[in-house]
Amino acid sequence: MDKDIDRVISPIAKTGEDSFDLSLRPKTLAEYIGQEKIKANLEITIQAAKKREETIEHVLLYGAPGLGKTTLAHVIANEIGANIRVTSGPAIEKAGDLAAILTNLAPNDILFIDEIHRLNKTIEEVLYPAMEDYALDIIIGKGPSARTLRLDLPHFTIIGATTMASLLSSPLRDRFGLVHHLNFYEVDEIQKIIRRSAKILSVVIDETSSLMIAQRSRRTPRIANRLLKRVRDYCEVKSDGLVNPQVCLEALEMLEVDELGLDAIDRKIMETIISKFKGGPVGLNTLAASTGEEMDTIENIYEPYLMQLGFLDRSPRGRVVTDLGYKHLGLKPSGPEKLI
Ligand SMILES: Nc1ncnc2c1ncn2[C@@H]1O[C@H](COP(=O)(O)OP(=O)(O)OP(=O)(O)O)[C@@H](O)[C@H]1O
Ligand SMILES: [Mg+2]
Repeated sequence: MDKDIDRVISPIAKTGEDSFDLSLRPKTLAEYIGQEKIKANLEITIQAAKKREETIEHVLLYGAPGLGKTTLAHVIANEIGANIRVTSGPAIEKAGDLAAILTNLAPNDILFIDEIHRLNKTIEEVLYPAMEDYALDIIIGKGPSARTLRLDLPHFTIIGATTMASLLSSPLRDRFGLVHHLNFYEVDEIQKIIRRSAKILSVVIDETSSLMIAQRSRRTPRIANRLLKRVRDYCEVKSDGLVNPQVCLEALEMLEVDELGLDAIDRKIMETIISKFKGGPVGLNTLAASTGEEMDTIENIYEPYLMQLGFLDRSPRGRVVTDLGYKHLGLKPSGPEKLI
């Protein structure tokens, strides 16, 4: 996914973007915009747990990059008034690493495990009794004299986050009492996020400009905030620092993001299917080879948004550009080979 990192509309966080992300992160459920159903559910979960003075069940948050999983994990901790410890699937290399983390937890703590689909199998197995019985099984000694010692752990909550829920093993998935799927946001919600961020960054922005940015943000808060930042920089250099529709459009045009948030690579993918494969169907590996993009990147980054827009379809025989997709590129769907 290296190439993807350079795109201004990449949903994946860029190096050095962390502190910027952090400054814009909502702290409470009330500040967290959109995902209304999840918020309503969480509100009840949190209230009920508080009333009973119990920890909340383990929570699994899944959804595309940049939709607010990490943010929501911190919001939950904040709403409960619990400490949050942060780690990630790839950071836990040995079972001992996890044991060390778990034995250091205090009652009511939240352990946030990012990219939880990347935990390896042996570590997952340490996690099962920890999640289910708040216990840690430690093997002492080697060979025939080895024995297992069970250590009690304080009651805590795991919040797992993943962009790829399908890669999670089912025993692990089953141990989460609450599973929430974060969806792409509505454009008006993204516009609200932009307004909120602009306020924090002391950027003066009008309605038309914030809508323009929202429409190009691929319904993803991280992209919205990044575009806002780029537009702000442009306006500081090219005008008086105030964002108005004219300079805003200039900035967005310079970034080569079209009015739906598509960039050159998205267009290349659709154009390749049309020009080389008569609009499809074409298999993922063939498409990857002819566009020079990685299969993984096409499947997880480009396709979901193109499909969301209704420009691309996944048929059993491969990828197909839809009539809407043709239209967006200013082309006419044609040819008897087209399936749709
Ligand atoms: N609901 C929201 N309301 C306001 N801002 C949000 C919301 N969700 C996300 N953001 C903003 O978008 C940025 C990215 O969100 P976050 O880092 O939580 O995404 P993520 O889902 O954890 O992404 P990744 O999969 O890359 O880890 C945050 O810094 C935050 O400023
Ligand atoms: Mg995250």
